[in-house]
Amino acid sequence: MTSTVFYTATTLDGYLADDNDSLHWLFKQEQDDNGALSYDEFIADIGAICMGATTYEWVLEHNDGPWPYTQPCWVFTHRDLKPVDGGDIRFAQGDVAPVHAEMAAAAGGKDVWVVGGGGLAADFAQAGLLQRLLLMIAPVTLGSGRPLFARPFDLRLVEVVRNGAFMAATYDVVGPLAQSEA
Ligand SMILES: NC(=O)c1ccc[n+]([C@@H]2O[C@H](COP(=O)([O-])OP(=O)(O)OC[C@H]3O[C@@H](n4cnc5c(N)ncnc54)[C@H](OP(=O)(O)O)[C@@H]3O)[C@@H](O)[C@H]2O)c1
Repeated sequence: MTSTVFYTATTLDGYLADDNDSLHWLFKQEQDDNGALSYDEFIADIGAICMGATTYEWVLEHNDGPWPYTQPCWVFTHRDLKPVDGGDIRFAQGDVAPVHAEMAAAAGGKDVWVVGGGGLAADFAQAGLLQRLLLMIAPVTLGSGRPLFARPFDLRLVEVVRNGAFMAATYDVVGPLAQSEA
């Protein structure tokens, strides 16, 4: 059955990028490409992906070489962005639910990857359409930046292992943060 997952690297204090959308803190980290939650193993099970406009533009600006994804990719934007040559890009906006249905159908039984950012991932969770977070947690703090997950949610820790400098943590999404009396 298709699962929808948010797989990302994050700082220890919960940021996907700094205030200028830089990932300088990420690329200096030691990582085992064959270790836990490795990208190659992860992407083999992915049949469709989506991302917000900032992430799309970041990839266009920083990726050397061709568009890196073979899967169909939905880009959420309010603007009239151009599809990149060599990519199967579909633009979307608004409610994530109908887009998720298209993604799940296109995935052909494989999983769906919400690449980011943290607002979009949380929108999928809020719609009850995100099952898992796979987090590569880097040993660095930024103090401010683009948030990992933009809504209050309860998660259930499934597994933690080490990959190089990273804590590779898998969480199930439980649901919107339950309020307590305190
Ligand atoms: N650490 C990592 O591994 C990792 C992973 C992913 C991303 N990143 C980085 O983290 C940062 C994330 O940036 P971000 O928080 O701004 O998130 P983002 O989701 O990449 O982009 C947010 C933008 O997407 C558009 N958008 C989102 N939801 C939409 C909806 N439902 N309908 C229409 N448009 C929608 C809006 O753009 P417009 O209104 O302008 O169209 C919004 O301003 C980026 O720098 C990215 O490169 C890092």
